[in-house]
Amino acid sequence: MDEYTFSFPIWVEFGTGASGKVGEIAETQGWDRAVIVTDPGIVEAGLTDGIVDALETAGIAYDLSDGVRPNPTVSMVEETAETIEASGADFVVAVGGGSVMDVGKTASMLVTNGGTVADYEVVTDEDVVAEPVENHPVPLVTVPTTAGTGSEVDFWAVITDTEREFKMALGQPPLYPGGPYLGASVSLVDPALTESLPPRQTAATGFDALSHALENYVSAVSPPLVTPMALHVMELIAEYLPEAYHDGTMEAREHVMFAAHLAGMGENLAGFGAIHSLAEVTGAMYPDIPHGEAIAIFTPAVMEFNRTAIPERYRDVAAALGEDVEGLSVEEAARRAVEAVEDLMDELDLPSRLRDVGVAEEDLRTIAEKSMATSEIGDNPREADADDLLEIARNSY
Ligand SMILES: [Fe+2]
Repeated sequence: MDEYTFSFPIWVEFGTGASGKVGEIAETQGWDRAVIVTDPGIVEAGLTDGIVDALETAGIAYDLSDGVRPNPTVSMVEETAETIEASGADFVVAVGGGSVMDVGKTASMLVTNGGTVADYEVVTDEDVVAEPVENHPVPLVTVPTTAGTGSEVDFWAVITDTEREFKMALGQPPLYPGGPYLGASVSLVDPALTESLPPRQTAATGFDALSHALENYVSAVSPPLVTPMALHVMELIAEYLPEAYHDGTMEAREHVMFAAHLAGMGENLAGFGAIHSLAEVTGAMYPDIPHGEAIAIFTPAVMEFNRTAIPERYRDVAAALGEDVEGLSVEEAARRAVEAVEDLMDELDLPSRLRDVGVAEEDLRTIAEKSMATSEIGDNPREADADDLLEIARNSY
């Protein structure tokens, strides 16, 4: 795949070796002290080594903050923000998956804007933020080590409030050109960092990217410019994720990483829906379930619920996923989209039932009710109430 550099307002470098540019980029910006935000598994896998080398070569001092865990919490953000403040760093490098990057984004924003994490929760579509992000965050460089979340370039973060057992969506897109936002300043997307990602995580995170494009494409609030991006993401994932999962070839991994990255950009322009509502609520209640696996489990039942409301869109999804829809009725073609996703999940050995990942049947009603309080549910293409979501959760059990 071609390497490229562009700015949208995040400065993006895509390509093998991109993560090694962190030192020279810091030099061009005049930054001279960093905090590396990560998790212990990333350090152990050697994925921070290239970053450390690049910083040392550029003569940049750094501290390591490696307290992030999956499904990150408010206290992890607060600890990271304290480390950034105490170190006197003038930039932050978040190296890891969505959890690490979301903590890096939120902590960098909190240091310059103050308040609590919950102050920035997106409550509804109309009420974009409770507290606007008024100051630029501490400059942040995101370096993804999975190909899935798109967090490296989106203007959102998902942080769990453990008291409420609820995942807060935090965020603010740029309010005006050059204005402050919750997000990275630079994103170094380096497919080589996904080379050692185990098959199970490759499948789950890649499927998450597919779900972003799918929800963006069918969402009631997505502008038309999302259409070609989302369809291309779905085509790439259907074509290359099985190979990335089974064989781990770099060619397949590059395409999946590009797809996930493109989907991340789409997330800034488009809405989500019931898949993310249900999966995020489940992830907050059961933090051991990886986000991408929770997403996979709910996807077929949500698609089944939505497809009759917008069958033409689902026909397009089926075609993007490689189904031959020539000559089929719209309804039949839409049904093929659900089947194609189920086939892909089988191929990737993803879990398809809540019971298989340890969810208690008596929690289904709570999951449905809490999902109604998420900001994403209002973007679902078919209006859903708590009873509808309970039915979906039962169908996913
Ligand atoms: Fe997601």
